[in-house]
Amino acid sequence: MAIITIFASALLAFLLWKLERKRSLPRSIAGPKKEHWLKGNLHRIFQDGLEYNLWLTQKYGGVVKIHTWLGGQQLYVSDPLALQHIVVKEQHIFTETDMFIMGNKLMFGEGLVSTLGEQHRKQRKILNPAFSHANMRELLPVIQPVASKMRSMLLSQLPDDGGSREIDVLPWMSRGALEYISQGCLGYTFNALEPTQSHNFAEAIRMPRLIFLRPFIPFIVRNISLYWRIKLVDWLPIKALRDLRRIVRVMDGTSNAILFEKKAELEEGSTTDGTCTTKSEGNLGDHMKRKDIMTILLRANASSDPAERLTEGELIGQMNTVTAAGVETSALASSRLLHALASRPTAQARLRSELRQAKLDHAASQDIPLDDSSWSDIELPYDILMSLPYLDAVVRETLRVYPPSSLLSRTCARALSLCHVRGPLTFLLLVEHGRQRPSLCSFPVLSSTGEEVTSVVVPEGTTVIISVLAANHNKAVWGDDASEWRPERWLNASGQHAWSGQGQELDGALGDRAEGSTNTPGNRGGVKYPGVYASMMTFFGGGRACIGFKFAEMEIKQIIATLISNMHFSLPSATDEHGNRKEIYWMMNGLQVPVVRAPFGDGKTSQVPLDVRTVREEDFSS
Ligand code: HEM
Ligand SMILES: *[C@@H]1O[C@H](CO)[C@@H](O)[C@H](O)[C@H]1NC(C)=O
Ligand SMILES: *[C@@H]1O[C@H](CO)[C@@H](O)[C@H](O)[C@H]1NC(C)=O
Ligand SMILES: *[C@@H]1O[C@H](CO)[C@@H](O)[C@H](O)[C@H]1NC(C)=O
Repeated sequence: MAIITIFASALLAFLLWKLERKRSLPRSIAGPKKEHWLKGNLHRIFQDGLEYNLWLTQKYGGVVKIHTWLGGQQLYVSDPLALQHIVVKEQHIFTETDMFIMGNKLMFGEGLVSTLGEQHRKQRKILNPAFSHANMRELLPVIQPVASKMRSMLLSQLPDDGGSREIDVLPWMSRGALEYISQGCLGYTFNALEPTQSHNFAEAIRMPRLIFLRPFIPFIVRNISLYWRIKLVDWLPIKALRDLRRIVRVMDGTSNAILFEKKAELEEGSTTDGTCTTKSEGNLGDHMKRKDIMTILLRANASSDPAERLTEGELIGQMNTVTAAGVETSALASSRLLHALASRPTAQARLRSELRQAKLDHAASQDIPLDDSSWSDIELPYDILMSLPYLDAVVRETLRVYPPSSLLSRTCARALSLCHVRGPLTFLLLVEHGRQRPSLCSFPVLSSTGEEVTSVVVPEGTTVIISVLAANHNKAVWGDDASEWRPERWLNASGQHAWSGQGQELDGALGDRAEGSTNTPGNRGGVKYPGVYASMMTFFGGGRACIGFKFAEMEIKQIIATLISNMHFSLPSATDEHGNRKEIYWMMNGLQVPVVRAPFGDGKTSQVPLDVRTVREEDFSS
């Protein structure tokens, strides 16, 4: 066994070395020294690198040269103008890396995250309307029961005397997120919120950490046939690979079964207005108006132009993709928000008061009868829920300071020149090589050796790491308190939105960027990030922005509004035999993963333990 392991590791190391075409970037781009012969600086960036990532940008600026596997080099970018080019203007040049696309294809099939160019554009065009505001408005009441179920599951665990109990909220947020996607997108329920259920699928989507294998994926997919791929997985002493194979099988099998059922349903009894009766187990209740995204896509397939139809494989691919892209990210986001509110009782009380007022107002306007205790059961309609100023501010601020997905990457398909620009803030700008340099481009590039250069050429094929984290923490754009969690930055002095309008005006339509006024948060004198969600990079921007960002926003707001109305959350108070309390700590390794730090915790197991109790009158702000 030991020999096989050594042999396999040697083989992997050899492949890695063959595959990583070494690209040297110009010496004049500043960056940290190589810190490890094999991993360069990657281990610092991807293993709990919050401080390191912020330091990189602080010290070297918006475009940094870093060292990667076996002497390779990449750019680490957080500069707003550079990102305008990468994410929007020249997005056709900055494509997904080979390993991202092929790895996704291997795992999910032909979904949005595994296609490029025309095929991707076609898929987006078909899918975008299903994720629009109009559709979210329809979907909200359909998925409200998920939040209510989450609330009753949590309440059922609390002691009868009104005292508090420590609950790890992370698994509940994960189960809730799975139900949101399955009911909202797939039109199916896994009953993931039933405590006795442990569904294969729910287990399956907890992706094993495969980052170290990713460089091999293009090679494996292209050069090794399916037969040998399966054999290889059997032979290689890598558990993560076997887990991955299991996941792919479960996920694909489940998506196929759901699709089969939905098609049968649409073909037989369904009426044209989308009302249908379902019988089979696992399905939602009878006479359910279908608003879910897959039903919309299936219906659209029957009517639209043949050139714009999705094949069955593509539809299965979308099901796998939205599940993989939407569950873990939103579960981390709502857990983070609960943790943030548990650490800040004043903010939590203010939010709860806003929710109570909104629910009372809504009940009054609709003549809904109320006694003292039932205000919390009032369900807010989409437009009210989405425009509550303080709720909006805490959600935005949490997604800004703690982006669930903090590092993304792209490869540049052409050689580029990189230069400094003049402006209120001196930013670096990437320009297509060969095209005339804009007159802006007059400042020398910041040099590591003190040399002055007006522009430097970045070779074709260079990988660019997009630091969502560093962008969202950029002091030049967000102010000196950029790294602080301060929801008030989104509000004006009277506690209303800091911009004019009801709320969403700050965000871009899917596929382009927001054009807010220049005095909104994250927009300093017209310099802003090209994200779809205000000026944040949390959901990315351009043609590959997160298609589910409005879904995620709605889901998080609905969960928080439902839970905060009934429950009070605080940091865990239990102590161990030495008097230590649990300290929840979010490790940043590309995703943000919560653990309990030593000495109380093991620093490894993901969890968000919080003290929870039912709400009392003192839990509101005066
Ligand atoms: C807080 C939660 C979420 C965050 C932070 C998030 C973030 C992101 C980011 C950063 C990307 C771009 C990735 C890249 O191109 O490298 C992305 C893409 C994507 N997201 Fe989300 N996402 C979230 C929730 C969701 C939800 C709920 C869904 C589905 C309902 C979803 C579906 C997708 C899809 C399909 C893509 C690929 C889009 C494309 O390539 O055209 N996401 N997301
Ligand atoms: C094997 O993979 C490499 C890298 O992905 C590719 O360039 C090459 O064409 C492939 N060879 C075959 C025989 O498919
Ligand atoms: C969409 O319609 C086309 C042509 O009728 C068909 O080949 C394809 O399988 C359909 N796609 C799905 C997902 O049913
Ligand atoms: C805050 O915004 C609201 C609504 O846009 C506006 O009516 C109010 O005057 C603003 N308050 C301040 C102090 O700017």
